[in-house]
Amino acid sequence: MGRIAVITDDPGWHGKRLRETFAGRGFEARFLSLTACQLNLHEDELPVLLPGFEERLPDGVFVRGVPGGTLEQVVLYLGILHALKLLGVPVYNDGHAIERTVDKGMTSYLLKRAGIATPPAWVLTDAERARSIAERELRQGHSVVSKPLFGSQGAGLRRYDSLKDLAGFSDDDGVFYLQRYIHSGDSAHDFRVFVIAGKTVAAMKRCGVTWLNNVHQGAHCEPVHLEDLRLCRLAEDAVRALDMNYAGVDIIRDEHGRYSVLEINSIPAWKGLQGVTEIDIAERLVEDFLSHATLSVPQSLRVQ
Ligand SMILES: Nc1ncnc2c1ncn2[C@@H]1O[C@H](COP(=O)(O)OP(=O)(O)OP(=O)(O)O)[C@@H](O)[C@H]1O
Ligand SMILES: [Mg+2]
Repeated sequence: MGRIAVITDDPGWHGKRLRETFAGRGFEARFLSLTACQLNLHEDELPVLLPGFEERLPDGVFVRGVPGGTLEQVVLYLGILHALKLLGVPVYNDGHAIERTVDKGMTSYLLKRAGIATPPAWVLTDAERARSIAERELRQGHSVVSKPLFGSQGAGLRRYDSLKDLAGFSDDDGVFYLQRYIHSGDSAHDFRVFVIAGKTVAAMKRCGVTWLNNVHQGAHCEPVHLEDLRLCRLAEDAVRALDMNYAGVDIIRDEHGRYSVLEINSIPAWKGLQGVTEIDIAERLVEDFLSHATLSVPQSLRVQ
C-alpha cells in the first residue's frame, strides 16, 4: 500500500477529507508535524527522519501546515521540505512555492514582475519612509492597508483612510507591508479562486462583515460560476507565475470592474469553498497529487 505523509499540526476537517480520499485510492495517509522531523547527515540513517517513515520515506508529502516558530525553526522546517524534494519525494506544494507565497512581499514582487494585475505595494523596514509612503498615498486620495508579512487569515490587517489614522501607524514584527486599498463597491467582497494543476476548479465570492473578507473573519461564501474567464485566467496566470501545484488566489474587483490579485495561498483551506461547489476538491487535489507521487521514489539511504 502506498504511504503518504500529510504534514500538519492540526489535521481537522481537511486532514480527514485527505485521509478518506487517499484511502479511496489505496494510499494510507499519515499525519505528522514538521516539529517532529529531523535531518540526519549520517550514512546509516535516512537523511530525513519523518516519524512513521523511519524505514522508508513516503511516496509523497502533502503539506497542510508549516508551524510558526523562530526564524531558525522555520528555516529548518522549509529545509526539511527542500531535502525531501531533493531526495525525489514529491512535495505538494514544495518548499520553494511555500516560501514565495508565505512572504506577501515576495508574492507581490513576483506578480508584478510577471505583469499580473496586483495593487501597488511597498515592503520595507524604515519607519520614516513607510510613513511618508502612506502619507503620499492618502494625500492622493487612496486608503492604505498594512499587513503582517506572513499570512494571518485577516488578523493584524489595518486600514488607514486619513492622515489622522496614521496616529496608530506601526510595523508588524519590524516590517511594513503596505498595499493600496482597493474599493470593491458598496458591499465588501472579494473572490477566492482555487487552481489545481494550472486550471481553476472552483471559485467563490467572499462577502465580509467588515472590509475583511476572510471566512475566518466571518465572511459568508457565495458560489461563482467559472464562466467569468477574466477571473479564472487571472488566477491561473498568478499561479503559473508563482510556479505552484495548486493554490487559493485572493482576487478583488474594483469599482470599475477591474480584477487584481491581493495574495496567493500555498496551503489554502477549502472547507468554505466546498460548501458552495459540487466539485469534490479533496478528490481533485489527491488526483493531481498522485499523478506526481506515483513517480518512482528513490529509497536510498545515502544523502543525495
Ligand atoms: N489592498 C486591499 N484592498 C482591499 N481589500 C483588501 C486589501 N488587502 C486585503 N484586503 C481584504 O483583507 C482580506 C485579507 O487580506 P489578505 O488576503 O492579503 O491577507 P490574509 O488573508 O490575512 O492572509 P492569508 O490568506 O495568507 O492568511 C482580503 O481577503 C480582503 O478582503
Ligand atoms: Mg487571504
